[in-house]
Order: sequence, then C-alpha cells, then structure tokens
Amino acid sequence: MTDMKNIETILSELTLQEKLSLLEGADMGFTNPVERLGIPKLLLADGPHGVRVVKGTSPESGEPYTMNGEMEAATAFPCEAGMAAAWNTDLVEAAGKAIGRECRAFGVNVLLGPGVNGKRSPLGGRNFEYYSEDPHVSGKMAAAFIRGIQSEGVGACIKHYALNDQETRRMSVNVHADQRTMREIYLKPFEMAVKESQPWMVMGAYNKVNGSFACENNELLNEILKGEFGFDGVVVSDWSAVKNKLACVKNGLDLQMPGPSGQIPLLMKAVEEGALDEETVDEHVRRMLTLISRTAAGKESRAVDWEAHHDIAVRLAEEGIVLLKNEEHILPLKKEKLAVIGELARHPNFAGNGSSTLFPRKLDIPLDEIGRYAQVSYAAGYRNGEDSADLLREAADTAKAAEKVLIFVGNISSEGMDHTDLAFPKEQVDLIRAVAEVNPNIVVVTMSGSAMEYRQIEAHVKGILHAWIPGEGCGRAIARILFGETCPSGKLSETFPVCLSNTPAYPDFPGFKDDVYYNEGILTGYRFYDTRALNTQYPFGFGLSYTEFVYSNLRLSSKELRNGEELKVSFDITNTGSCKGKEAAQIYVADPVSYLFRPRKELKAFAKVELEPGETKTVTVTLGEEAFAYYVPHIHRFAVESGEFQILIGASVEDIRLSEALVFHSGHDVRAPLTESDLFMEFMDDNRYSEVAGQVLEALHMDASSPFYHLVLGGSLNQLKDLLGFLEIDNSMGDVFISCMVNRTPLQI
Ligand code: BGC
Repeated sequence: MTDMKNIETILSELTLQEKLSLLEGADMGFTNPVERLGIPKLLLADGPHGVRVVKGTSPESGEPYTMNGEMEAATAFPCEAGMAAAWNTDLVEAAGKAIGRECRAFGVNVLLGPGVNGKRSPLGGRNFEYYSEDPHVSGKMAAAFIRGIQSEGVGACIKHYALNDQETRRMSVNVHADQRTMREIYLKPFEMAVKESQPWMVMGAYNKVNGSFACENNELLNEILKGEFGFDGVVVSDWSAVKNKLACVKNGLDLQMPGPSGQIPLLMKAVEEGALDEETVDEHVRRMLTLISRTAAGKESRAVDWEAHHDIAVRLAEEGIVLLKNEEHILPLKKEKLAVIGELARHPNFAGNGSSTLFPRKLDIPLDEIGRYAQVSYAAGYRNGEDSADLLREAADTAKAAEKVLIFVGNISSEGMDHTDLAFPKEQVDLIRAVAEVNPNIVVVTMSGSAMEYRQIEAHVKGILHAWIPGEGCGRAIARILFGETCPSGKLSETFPVCLSNTPAYPDFPGFKDDVYYNEGILTGYRFYDTRALNTQYPFGFGLSYTEFVYSNLRLSSKELRNGEELKVSFDITNTGSCKGKEAAQIYVADPVSYLFRPRKELKAFAKVELEPGETKTVTVTLGEEAFAYYVPHIHRFAVESGEFQILIGASVEDIRLSEALVFHSGHDVRAPLTESDLFMEFMDDNRYSEVAGQVLEALHMDASSPFYHLVLGGSLNQLKDLLGFLEIDNSMGDVFISCMVNRTPLQI
C-alpha cells in the first residue's frame, strides 16, 4: 500500500461500513484496522516534548489502548517554550528526530505534537506547550520539529487547529477573531509548518471559531487548511472534540478520536438518504490510507541510543535557559561555598502536566549536578502553599553560612487550567526576601513554562536564570550554565511583562462565559508593547550572555525589490568578550507608512551563530516577498504595498543594532475602491481618483479660499447632493459629479 493507485484499488474494495470505521478510533490510542484487506491500525500517542505511551501496547500486541497503566520511560525534552528560547532550529529538529526514533521503538505511528497555539495572554495554561508569541518563530520551530519526527517514518500531528489559546472553557468557548488577526497571528504557524514540512496530521481544536466548532468548521478545515495551505494529511479531532459527527465529516474532519463513536449506522443512513456524499467519505478514507502508507516506513524498529538522546535534551535545555539578570557578574560561579535552596532543586519541574506528562529514563537532579562543581549545603526553603517559619529560618541559616545562594523557584502549568496571575508563589517570594536579608548574593533559577512577574523579586537578587520546564537534562544543563561550562545563549521567545494588567489581552482573557473576543487583534505579544512604546520587564528576544557581541556591516543584496524577488540580508557579528558563546540575532521588518495599520516591526527571520572570542562571522538570511506582506481583508489575501521598508537587525526587539532602508515596487494595489460613502478628501488624496475629484471641485468653484471648502472635503459623497442644495448650487448635477468621481470618468460639462 505505497502508492495512490494502490490506495484507489483498496478504496474500491472497502465496504461503506469499513470506510467509516477507518475514520474513527478503536479506543484511546489506536485507529481501526481492516484486517480483511491487510490495512493495519495506527497508534497515536502524546506529545509534544517527548513520547508518552503505555507499556506493551504496540499495534502488534493486540491489547486495546488505555491512557492509564504503566508508562514506557522515554526522553523528556524541554517544553516547547524552552525549545523556542534556544532559537536553534537544528537542535529542535534533532529533538524531533530523537522523539521519532523513540516512537518507532514503542510502535507509535503518530506523535501528537507539536503545539503551535498562540500566547494571547501569559496566563494561558498550556503556553509552555507552545513555542512563541511570534508566529514566525512558532512556524519555524514547528517545521523543524516535524521534519525531525517524520524523518523517522513517524507522523507529526500539529495542534490545536485553531485559536485554542486558553484552557478556560476550552471545550465550549466561541473565539471571535477577525480575518486579519487569524491569518497574521494564529493561523500563520500552521500555514508555515504545513508549507515547509508537510505534517501528516493536524489536530482540530475543541473550541468554536467565529461560531462553529473547529472540528466542524468548513472555512478552517476545507477552505483554508486543505485548500489554501495545501494540507494533504489527516485532520484528527482533539480527544472527544466531536460534537456532531455528521457535521464534522461533511466539513473536513477525517478522523475522530477516541472511538468507537457508535455512530457509524447513522452515517451509513445519511449516505443512503443522500445527506452525506459517499465521495466525501472516500476523500477522508484516501487521506487515512495515505497516512497508513506514509507510516509504513517507520514500522521497523531501530535501536535507540538513549545516552545520545539525553545529550540532545541537555543541549536543548542549556541553549534555552535565559540569563535575565547578572549584576556584578555574579555568574558564572566559581568553586565557592554555595547554598542551594528550594524543593525544585531536588524535585525539578522537568515536564508538563496533563497530556504532556512524561516519564524520563534518566533525570539529572540540579542539586546533585551542582554538587559536582562546588561544596553545597541544601535547605528546602518552602513547601507548596505552606507558610513555614521553620523552613524560612533553616533556609536563612544555610544561606548565611555560604558565599552565594542559589534559590530554585517556579510554578506548575497544566493543560485544563489557565493561570490566574503571574505571581511567584507567596512562600517563594517570602523565602527570597528572607534570604536576601542575610546574604545579598542570590541567583534565582526559575522553572516555569511561561512568563512570571519578576518585579516581585528582581530587586532582591543579583542573578536570574529562567530555565522553563527544562526536561530530563535540567540538572546538568543548569549546572553547566551556572558554572560557565556553557555560555548562556537563550533568549525570550515571549515577552515577560511588568505586570498582568499591561498585557494585551488583559481585559478580554479568558472572555465572559462562552465568548472570547480577540479585541487586541494583531497587537499581541511584542507587537503590542513595541507599537505602543510600553515598558516590559524583559522584552521579546532578550537574553544576556557571559560574553559580548558587536553587530556591524549590514548589507542588502538590493535597495529595490519587486514581487517574486528575494532579498539577501547580510551582517557581521563579532564576539568581543572573553569566552566562546552563541548569539541569536533577530531580523525585523518595518513598514513605516501603510494603507492599513501595521505593528511597528515584525520578526521575519533569525539566526544563531557560535563564535570564539575575537571571532567574526557573517550571517546571511533571505527574505522573500512574504516578509513584507500583510493580510488585507478586503482583497482576501496577503499583499505587499509599494513604498519604503526598513530592515532592522536586533539582539532583542528593543535592542536594534543595525538598520537599512529599501524600496519595494509592488504590483499589488491594497487600496479598497472608494464608494459614495467615502469622504471627498479621500477622493482627493487617492491618486486613482484625485484628478476627477479636482475637476469636480473646480466645477463647483471651490478652492481653499471658499468658506465651504472644508465642509465639502470633510463630507461623504452621499452628503454632497444635500450640501449642493444648501449652497444653492443646482443639485441635479450631484449625481453626475458622484458618478464621475466613483467611476473615474472625466467630467464633461
Ligand atoms: C489534548 C491534546 C492531546 C489529547 C490526547 C487532549 O486533551 O488537548 O493535546 O493530544 O488530549 O491525549
């Protein structure tokens, strides 16, 4: 079953009942086989930052799949937010490949990841499972991860399509978002990943989008995903997301999970009665058979090099850890007497909760790993949710006796629940403040999958490392960064705001009852703070290093660009510090004057380079036409406007080091045609209409000296006729004037 001809033959041999059985699960993890024709079942398993699968339930085992039961131990990689903070697509691809190899070993055919939903609010309970607030970063990371997984003959399932950006009422909430916001922000990562890496599966989300459930949404599934983006794989429902099976089948959902649905007779009846076209069923079956044939390559198990996978997990965690503060160069540490405080140093928050829970084969404990470098004393410091004077006293005593103090803090994120604030748990803040009174040399290590309110603790500490949910290599990765064996190179893939109330979706997250309005529109993440010139605690793209980088010599391959052409952007980065390090450079595009409002700048490329002290490397990225385009709702597509653009090279969104301008000569006209309800001055300002509009003004003997000039200019054409009467001008000419202006036909009187 490897080619389409074969698939067509099989399709012709299947009964309607068999076809429909292929379109739903057999249980929580398996799809249905058709043994009569040798069509195997597939096993689908979570995801996304490692594989989680029940022991002994490979497709060959014959056992039904349940979510409970003892799990296989597998490599736990950092959560996606942490992966994205590494800004290293090669490493993310390597992690994907390792996960693919492990899936193969466990008989898993499709991994339920990556997740690319938006980070509308830092409160999003699953933000840790999503890469970035920026669609370009998310799309690039997802594409790399998918490439890695699928190179092992295992399918990737990109999720949750679409606008599933909150956990509150995730099964019922109706997301109201305008087309431009959907296309530029929330659908973009799916579009990029589908076009760049062709995932074999997409998971439809639980929520409604503009009034219809994502899994029964014709516009999202048939028109946009399968039509415009060219997705040729299987759309699977999120687990139990199917509400109306017939509507799902008709509107583009290929596979319902889990199963059985008990509704196959209903669908058979619908086909008999003509309420469901059998050709629609066949189209879904074709996609399922294609998936089955694609996964055949991954059936044969290969040996897993667990140590190598652990190393990738360590490297990815290391590169994703972000150094947020390093006052007085408190880091890197030397072999000094250290106090390590905080339960998380012994029991790290290494994986997510909910469906992203993982069972690692090997877990590097931070306390043990730090102990390999220096003399360490330990105190627990806090216990979740408890006010304990004894623990605080013990921590302060431990800290007093040390030269420097490492305090491990963090919070828990989980599927199913949004955060209610960005605060550090009270017992952790109390601990930091108590320790600061006896020892000012504090470095905080945070294990949290999303943004936290650092202003609570920032003033009390000299160093801050944000380690995300770092996976099984957390201990080694954190220790290597702390002691300078690896130079920190992570940068924030999401803005860390000053406080919750100045975040873009603050008034509208998570909405009211079953409705949420994306009123902030395209101004989400850094697009919001940057455009409105608002302070952030730590901006998007920010991260410190133990060395210094100088940017220079920006070159553009051309100062003028036309549709279909590419621009090569080159610049140099020099490591002027004293240790080897990596730098994540960010390439933004700004469109200072535009017909529709645009954010101040938008990220369109990035690159990570490694440099020895004193070394210079040239970075070159290519920007295609899409880097200059935005979604123009009234022409229903992305388009580029003619005019000047700026290329901005930054170490973060707030730290632009180099810039150059270029002119784009675009063949697109993004302007909407003017109508009778538009203002006279808009006709004057628009070169498509201004000549005729000028003639009309002349015929009316109106110029800037006329007392009614501004009245006419500020009114709409609809009002012009009334105005002419009011001015005692023959208003029968009104229709002629209007028609000439709207149709751009010269005025002949
Ligand atoms: C989650 C998905 C997950 C699925 C299967 C759902 O609740 O939203 O992300 O893949 O369960 O476990």
